[in-house]
Amino acid sequence: MWENGLTRLLGVQYPIIQAPMAGGVTTSQLVAAVSNAGGLGMIGAGYMTPSQLREQIQELKSLTDKPFGVNLFVPNPYNADQERIAKAKNFLQPILQELHVSKVEPKLPSFEQDVKTFYEHIDVIIEEKVSICSFTFGLPDSKILRKLKENSVIVIGTAGTVAEAILNEKAGVDAVVIQGAEAGGHRGSFLGEDKQSLIGLISLIPQTADQIKIPIIAAGGIMDGRGLMAAKCLGAQAVQMGTAFLVCEESGAHQLHKEAIIGAKEDQTVLTKTFSGKLARGLKNRFTEKMSNREDEVPDYPLQNELTKTIRKASAEKGTSEYMSLWAGQSTRLAQCLTARQLIEKIIQEAKELSSICT
Ligand SMILES: Cc1cc2nc3c(=O)[nH]c(=O)nc-3n(C[C@H](O)[C@H](O)[C@H](O)COP(=O)(O)O)c2cc1C
Repeated sequence: MWENGLTRLLGVQYPIIQAPMAGGVTTSQLVAAVSNAGGLGMIGAGYMTPSQLREQIQELKSLTDKPFGVNLFVPNPYNADQERIAKAKNFLQPILQELHVSKVEPKLPSFEQDVKTFYEHIDVIIEEKVSICSFTFGLPDSKILRKLKENSVIVIGTAGTVAEAILNEKAGVDAVVIQGAEAGGHRGSFLGEDKQSLIGLISLIPQTADQIKIPIIAAGGIMDGRGLMAAKCLGAQAVQMGTAFLVCEESGAHQLHKEAIIGAKEDQTVLTKTFSGKLARGLKNRFTEKMSNREDEVPDYPLQNELTKTIRKASAEKGTSEYMSLWAGQSTRLAQCLTARQLIEKIIQEAKELSSICT
């Protein structure tokens, strides 16, 4: 019932991918538990140093002999507008004071350094013989894609629109994650205006399936067997789930983040640029409320991300989620704290029951 071109390509039993979630969520325990239970575990390596990535890959090899993957952020040039940076520092200052954090001078990133780290990540993936690599925030250049292919790495891209999915196919990726507007975390979109690329999955999957031949992986608001079966019926070969795995026991998400998701209703998420400079979906809190009129003023990603780092960290340390980035998709009411294996088994059981009812 579950075997298809994509599950065969990835070497997995079930068409369930645990979303890569950069920032400490995708612990080795989570990734290994997913892969050992028949899904595909993914390391979110976006914020890691190359040596941290190598260490986690090596640890994972001792925890599973099943396939797992690594996800990277494609670096994009950004505008280090000094006026915007100074203004953002000013409007963030009262929050630092409220959290009793003394003024810190954040070390701002540089695009050249980001590109260098990105190339080093690619080398680690190849040297460590990781079989699957996915990308978000754009397409890597053709040289990198060729290098990965020459080393037999399966490449997965990310798209928020049909046009982006077509570009991914043309670039030669093996499969594409299509991210619906429901999705938690950062938008992977890279063409056009980000707010124009917010398409619900029920629209996006079939329209994409009509235009491309490579396998589609559906992401956004999928939490259970109903979501898996719906995505399959619409034309996806697998699902990628973030929020559902974030609340699992093995996830490294902060306990306050997990608790906030478990108690949240469907209308409690918001899309905001104010945490990082890039549009992302998370739960509303005091930070998103205070910043709601600053959406157009924040510096580009990843500059704003660096500027809010101390605030997010201090909030977590002080035991309040009010200033943390609580990334979450729109299906929060369906979140349950289970082990990753229990979650996968539950989804598969629900999907099996549905398929006997639906046929
Ligand atoms: C906390 C969090 C972090 C995320 N980090 C990444 C990431 O590093 N790379 C990536 O490609 N997608 C990332 N995403 C997006 C997921 O790949 C996926 O699109 C999303 O989780 C799907 O929506 P859902 O959360 O409703 O399942 C993240 C999502 C969340 C919730």
